[in-house]
This record gives sequence, structure tokens and C-alpha cells, in this order.
Amino acid sequence: MPDPAKQIDELRKEIERHEYLYYVQDSPEITDKEFDDLVKKLQTLEAQHPDLLTPDSPTQRVSGKASSTFSAVKHSRPMLSLDNVYDEEELKAWWERASKGLGGAKFEVSIEPKMDGTSLALVYENGRLKSAATRGDGETGEDVTANVKTIRAIPLRLDFKAPVPETFECRGEVYMLKKDFEAMNREAVKTDSKTFANPRNSAAGSLRQKDPSITAKRKLMFTVHSASNIPETMNLEKHSEFIEVCRNLHLPVAVYPIPIAQSPDDVIRIYKKWLDERPGLPYEIDGIVVKINHFDQQKALGMTAKSPRWAVAFKFSASQATSTINSVEYSVGRTGAVTPIAKISPVHCGGVTISSVSLHNFDEVERLGVKVGDKVLIERAGDVIPKIVRVIEHGINAKNIAPPKSCPVCAGEVLRADDGEVAWRCVNALCPAQLERGLLHFASRDALDIEGMGESVVSQLLEKGFVKDFADVYSLKKEDLLKLELFADKKAENLLAQIETSKTRPLSKLLAALGIRHVGEKVARTLAERFMDLKALADASQEDLTKVPDLGPIIAESVHTFFRQETTRTLIGKLEKAGVNFKEPKKEIMESAISGKSFVFTGELESFSRSEAEEFVTQMGAKAMSSVSKKTDYVVAGAEAGSKLEKAEKLGVKILTEQEFKKLIGRP
Ligand code: IVH
Repeated sequence: MPDPAKQIDELRKEIERHEYLYYVQDSPEITDKEFDDLVKKLQTLEAQHPDLLTPDSPTQRVSGKASSTFSAVKHSRPMLSLDNVYDEEELKAWWERASKGLGGAKFEVSIEPKMDGTSLALVYENGRLKSAATRGDGETGEDVTANVKTIRAIPLRLDFKAPVPETFECRGEVYMLKKDFEAMNREAVKTDSKTFANPRNSAAGSLRQKDPSITAKRKLMFTVHSASNIPETMNLEKHSEFIEVCRNLHLPVAVYPIPIAQSPDDVIRIYKKWLDERPGLPYEIDGIVVKINHFDQQKALGMTAKSPRWAVAFKFSASQATSTINSVEYSVGRTGAVTPIAKISPVHCGGVTISSVSLHNFDEVERLGVKVGDKVLIERAGDVIPKIVRVIEHGINAKNIAPPKSCPVCAGEVLRADDGEVAWRCVNALCPAQLERGLLHFASRDALDIEGMGESVVSQLLEKGFVKDFADVYSLKKEDLLKLELFADKKAENLLAQIETSKTRPLSKLLAALGIRHVGEKVARTLAERFMDLKALADASQEDLTKVPDLGPIIAESVHTFFRQETTRTLIGKLEKAGVNFKEPKKEIMESAISGKSFVFTGELESFSRSEAEEFVTQMGAKAMSSVSKKTDYVVAGAEAGSKLEKAEKLGVKILTEQEFKKLIGRP
């Protein structure tokens, strides 16, 4: 019969070794199943010999009962926090101050990653874990021993290789691996429970569970980063030696050997290395911690109210932060798209203060499930515009974010586009928010063709408040134009002359210029030819419009809606007063050499725009078509003609160069 005491002892050592290999060294030798079998075997033996059961047995990791409160623990020495520096200059200033404080003596620093977790003080007595406490207010923390025992990276017994004092205390960080954090949040979403903003919150939250069996499931990790009173009791001289002792005791440490720097430049180099490696690390870090290595120099520098003068956190600029959505505003873009903008409580993130974040569109709002009143996670990496990553917690009485019924700029109707687009748009083509784009279109070659009214002019006219709608273009005065960049007498006069000429364009051009949704050049021509007068068109019922051949119900509705808007009515009044032509000239269909022929234009022509050429042949009694078929009489090919030309060649359709076309229509 083997000796049960010996068997139990050997099993415990074996299990502890595997815990160490798995959780501290990250190099397991056996499978999870084999490990579980070892624990089960030990459990059975202990059940048979209850007298041999001890609280530091690996089977006792999840043992404490759920408690409603954590008792207070006074720390042997205050648990300090760290001052932060955010850039090289601040780091150098810290170095200077420390150097001064040490009377100019040389010093070296140790460098560790700043684990993004929550700090914990461990007290071992005679090598056995006696208590574990959170930082609390720095003086007094909470006793979370039962929960901490479930963290397998923390040994319940120390592996004595180095002599350790009767009471051994070390402090470190409890954290969660990124993958476990993400898996936990995914699970939380599935079960509709609370998700955590970052691994730090999840570590802190998990450590303060009332029921240790819940903490046990959270896969917490631990790494030692500082001593309490060890230097005196263990005769150690340097922090790096302390870390080495911890490692020998099988306590997890973040890096070994710990890098040492002799100058700020050394520190900066190591900082950059960590910054580069950060995305690929299995855990989250938010900077590095720089500590003066020699304990006697640490002592000489002492501490301020809360933090040591001998250490500093050199932080990476945070790219994520949490905040609350206080309200939603709507912005209207140049295309009329209405964008919901979340107004949040200002937070520092990625080096700037953020107080509003675009939600992009209402599909995104739905995808995120975000509401006014919710606590959300914000991200701003580098120069990227800030975004909401996800909801952390719904607010009590959170309010839905819905598209506005009317445009916040012009009070026009807001509708979802009928073509499967995600955007909700203000349908008022004359909405001031859309004016810049609208004006450029208004003045473009295929619309009212006002040469000289390009981007720079339009944006200045709007900026200076000279133009508030299309009609204002016709009340511009020379002195207004002279206030624009690079405008002198001649240029102003030319533009005014262009504006004057634009009043005489046919109705079809005016209609195309107004930017009515779904009304391009072709539809504009159809409408103009049918109604001949802007006023007649404006008064047309939807039924009248639907009857127009080639006009589908969507276009009919769009045109009808446009002319019912108050803004449209006002605009028409102003345009009329300015003397803008509202009529479509009667087409004299000429008997000509090309009467009855059909044309297709392809490529770029030098002397006409595509629509000018099409109009020209229409006036001469021919037809302009958009695609080539056997029935096509002529294909006019300009520069860079593509597939239509190929098709014409294939079908044997007569192909004309621009010169030949001009000759045919009798144009020089
Ligand atoms: S040393 C006296 N080292 O950062 C110095 N802290 O902002 C005590 N932390 O409360 C801390 N990684 O929870 C130190 N390598 C590291 C650390 C670290 C993370 C945490 C720690 C501390 C907080 C200070």
C-alpha cells in the first residue's frame, strides 16, 4: 500500500508544476484533460483522507463561499500609484528632476510593460498564500483572497529556491488576456449580460465577484511588479534582483531579464520597441513603467503625496475611452444625407478631447444597438476620426435614435432613398446644407453653363454669405465679386456677363440646373418639351406628370414633391423677378440631310458636349440614341471611344469622326 500522505504530496507538487508551466511559463507539457485527471485523482485521495487536506492544496482553489462583502485589509505599506509622462520631453524632464534629487549621481532604471489591469497585494506567510487584497484607497484594500486563490498563475505555495522571509509580500497586476477578454464579451452579448469596456475593467470586475466560482471562470492572469518591504528583509539592492527572486519563487513576472536603461534615450528606444510590439502582444499594455533600479536611490528620492519620485509611467496615448451619449444631433451633408452625431461627455482619447462622434447612418445605429443615455466605448487611433466601438451599458430610460422627421437645416422632408441606399436624405434640393454642391451643378456646362463659377468661387460666395439660394446668383454685384480672392475688374465683369447670359438658356437647362432628384438632362428635356413653361410644370398634378411618356412613377413623384415645397415656390418667384427665362423654345424640326436618321455618340468630342451634340441632331429631325444596334445609322466616335465603337464595327454601322459629323450637319 503506498503511503497516502506521500502520494498526496507528490500529486500536489506535480499539479503545481503543471500550473506553473501552463500559466507562468506558457509552455504546458500535458493536455488540459490530463491536468484535470490529476486534480480529480488528488480530490479523490483527499476525500478518502480528510485529515490530509490543507488549504494550500490545488484542489482548494475554488473553495470559499460567496460572501456579501469583502473585509478591509490595511496594507503593510501604502500601495502607490504612478505619475505619468506622455512624451519624450516629459520623460527627459522626469529624468532631470530625479538626477537633481540624487545630487547629480548616476542612476539606472529598469523597464517593464505597464500591464493594463488592476493591482493586487499578495502576502505569503511561511511560503503559503495568506491573503490577497485590492489596492482600495492605497491605505486599505479589500480582502479578495478566496477569489485570488482561483487564479492558477498565482502559486498557493512558493517554490523555495531562494531563502524568503517568514512574511513575504509582493504586489502586481491582475489582468486578462485579450483573447479571453474578447471571448468573455462575446459570451456576454449572447446571454444579454453586461460587457466590459476593456481588459482592465474586466479584471477588476472579476476580482470583486461575490462568488469565487465566477472568478474562477474568468481566466485571470497575474504578474508581479513591485515589492513592499522586501528590500530590507531580504538584503536586496535592486528592483531587478527582486524580480529575479520572484521568478525563482515561481511567481509570474512580465519580462525576464528585466531591461535596464542608463539614459533617457535608452528608455525611448525600449518604449518604441514595446509600442511596435503592442498590437501583437497577448495582453493589453498602456505604456511602460520606468523605475530607478537601486533601492537606496529610491529611498533617497522618496515620494510625493501619492506616487514615488523614483518611478514613472511612460504612457502610450490611449486610443480608447468610455463616455456617455447625452444627445444626438443631425447634420445634413452636401448630398442631403442626414448623419446622426452622438454628443458625448467629453473624454480624452488618442491625444485629443472628444465630445462628439459620428454614428454615420441609421443602419450603423441599429447595428451598434446604441441609444441616447448609453455608456459607450470610443476609439480614436492615430489620426483616424473617432468612432463608437460598442455599447458598454444601456442607460436607464435610454432613448432610441431615429431619423428626424424633418431636415434640421431647412425643415424639408427626410426620406430614405428608394434605391436601397442606407442614407436618409433631406429631399429638398434647395436645402442650404446642399447648396455648395447644388450651385456647382447649377453653373455647370450641361446646366446653366456659367463659366467662371467653379469650386473656389462658389465656396467663397457661400462663405461670405453673398449667395443663400440659386436665385441670389442673379443679384450679385461687381463690388461683391471684387471681394473674392484673385478677382479684379475684368474677371468680375466677365463673370457677371456669364451670369447674365445664363438667364437666356432654355427651360430644359434650367430644369436640369435645379438638381431635382432623378431629373438629369434627358428627363429635363422631356419635361421641358412637354410643359414648355416652368409655371405649367410647377402646377402639374402628379397624375399629369405620370402621363408623360418615359417618366416613371418615381420621377413623377420626385418632381411633384419638389414643386410643392415652399422653398421651391420662393425660388421660382425670385428667379422670375431676376428675369430668368422659363420657356422652352419651340423646336423647329428642320428637314435636313439627317432627318429620320439615328445617331449614337461615343467618346469625347472636341467641339460639343455629348448633350449638345444630341440636342443638335434632335433639332435637325434625327434621333439620338444611347446604345448601338443594327438600326443605328451613324456612330460618331470621339477620343477614347470604347465598347460602342467596337460594337458599331462588328455590326457594320457607319462610323463618323467628329470632322465627318460636322461636315454632315453643315457645321464649319
Ligand atoms: S509599479 C510604486 N509596475 O499601474 C509603484 N505598476 O498607475 C507601484 N501597473 O497601481 C506600481 N504595471 O496597478 C508598477 N510594471 C508595473 C505596472 C504597474 C501596471 C499599475 C499598478 C499601479 C498603476 C499605477
